Amino acid sequence: MDFSNKQIVVTGGTGALGSAVTGALLRAGAHCVVPYVDAAEAERFAHRGDPNVKLVAVTDLADETEVAKLFDTVAASTPLWASIHIAGGFAVGKVAETGKRALMAQLDGNLVSCFLCCRAAVNAMIEGKQGGRIVNVAARPGLEWRTGAGMSAYTVAKAGVAALTSALAEEVAKDGILVNAVAPSIMDTPANRAAMPKADFGAWPKVEDVAATILFLASPDNAVTRGAVVPVYGKS
Ligand SMILES: NC(=O)c1ccc[n+]([C@@H]2O[C@H](COP(=O)([O-])OP(=O)(O)OC[C@H]3O[C@@H](n4cnc5c(N)ncnc54)[C@H](OP(=O)(O)O)[C@@H]3O)[C@@H](O)[C@H]2O)c1
Repeated sequence: MDFSNKQIVVTGGTGALGSAVTGALLRAGAHCVVPYVDAAEAERFAHRGDPNVKLVAVTDLADETEVAKLFDTVAASTPLWASIHIAGGFAVGKVAETGKRALMAQLDGNLVSCFLCCRAAVNAMIEGKQGGRIVNVAARPGLEWRTGAGMSAYTVAKAGVAALTSALAEEVAKDGILVNAVAPSIMDTPANRAAMPKADFGAWPKVEDVAATILFLASPDNAVTRGAVVPVYGKS
């Protein structure tokens, strides 16, 4: 896949999946705009010295002002080709133990951030008049609700990401913007290995393999796929 001279926003781009996506995009010739919240994570980011990465400090992508600040840094000289929305977080918690604060944290981090970045990306792409690609990141419980028992707030937020993907894809297809999502199961990340040391790591999808699916959906090679929420479960 060729992303030469293509400008791409990657939210959550310094995280576990985000680093794999950003690395693959850079190898394919892209220019990446990567927001970060945690300065220490940005310090550790493997691609921070790459001349084709623009790191942008933000406080919270569930905040409209911060999203506007991020998309304002997209170089005006090159239309925004793709926007990949990986930013999000995970929390367990039974409904009986989840208050509004915890619910809103999941909705804000996973759904509101995705919604606001979709809006900003669509506006930039319509202005650029070249169409574009948006890829969101849902999660398996967002597609298979029963698997979200014990993590309902997260499940509701990711189900919202899945529904947003489908509705928005229909809305903007006429503008040449193809919107899709991936829904990973538990991925093989250092954090998951530490949290579940006895699990069968080999069954979990690798972040590089999930990144490969995201790259196809974000690429010009994806000529017709839209409104899909693609399961990326590996052998799990
Ligand atoms: N890991 C899994 O097994 C798994 C499974 C299914 C779905 N997912 C989804 O896949 C995505 C990536 O997961 P991951 O394991 O790579 O997570 P990760 O390493 O924790 O990375 C998450 C990234 O999102 C950013 N972020 C979170 N909330 C944000 C906010 N409100 N504003 C701006 N940035 C925010 C974080 O930024 P800072 O670190 O700078 O704060 C971080 O860069 C998430 O959406 C997650 O829900 C993960």
